[in-house]
Amino acid sequence: MTKLIPDIAVLASGTGSNFRAIAQSIKDGRLAANVSCFLTDNPDAKAIEIAKEFAIPCFVEPFSTKQDHESRMLSVLRKRKPKWLVLAGYMRLLTKNFLENFYDAEKTCYRVVNIHPSLLPAFPGKDAYRQAFEYGVQWTGVTVHLVSTGCDDGAVIAQSPLEIRPNDTLASLTARGLSLEHQLYSQALQKLFRETWGLESAGDRRRVVWK
Ligand code: GRF
Repeated sequence: MTKLIPDIAVLASGTGSNFRAIAQSIKDGRLAANVSCFLTDNPDAKAIEIAKEFAIPCFVEPFSTKQDHESRMLSVLRKRKPKWLVLAGYMRLLTKNFLENFYDAEKTCYRVVNIHPSLLPAFPGKDAYRQAFEYGVQWTGVTVHLVSTGCDDGAVIAQSPLEIRPNDTLASLTARGLSLEHQLYSQALQKLFRETWGLESAGDRRRVVWK
């Protein structure tokens, strides 16, 4: 069965190196998707320049209250109608009310994906490279996952390990981690959009099963 090329919306709050990697993968033909729009809560986000560079429609929706910010984003998204939301360093938790707009009744999940810089469930939340570095683990990694209503706790789509070397600094670890993220995110999205998958229960959690 031929699968359609999905429209995606990318949300980012900062530098946008993952956004750039996704846009470049699409341009190079490694990821079959179309970025229908880019949204940010941060008027100073460097990612805005990336949207301009790739000629992607850009919407800056500054945060005043969560409700106001989300309803502004929703009015853009209702017009653009992306199939998937791709979070790429978007630094705010989305509410259940907002996520419900992207509920996929067939898959029973939200069509919203995030990348997190650790091997979840280890080190959820902010500054995960720093958390792992300061803890002293020898291995950390990156995770691409479906977004649910909790913090970094949705079903895992893909993970990749990252060694913390004895001579690493937080800066060198973060740089190696980001380049791993750039590869993994596009690969994971391509798999999610092109392959057949479902969700199955795993204790009180759920996991992605490839078919
Ligand atoms: C990345 O480490 C990502 O995993 C996390 O936020 C960071 C965003 O970096 N969610 P960038 O803006 O894509 O460079």
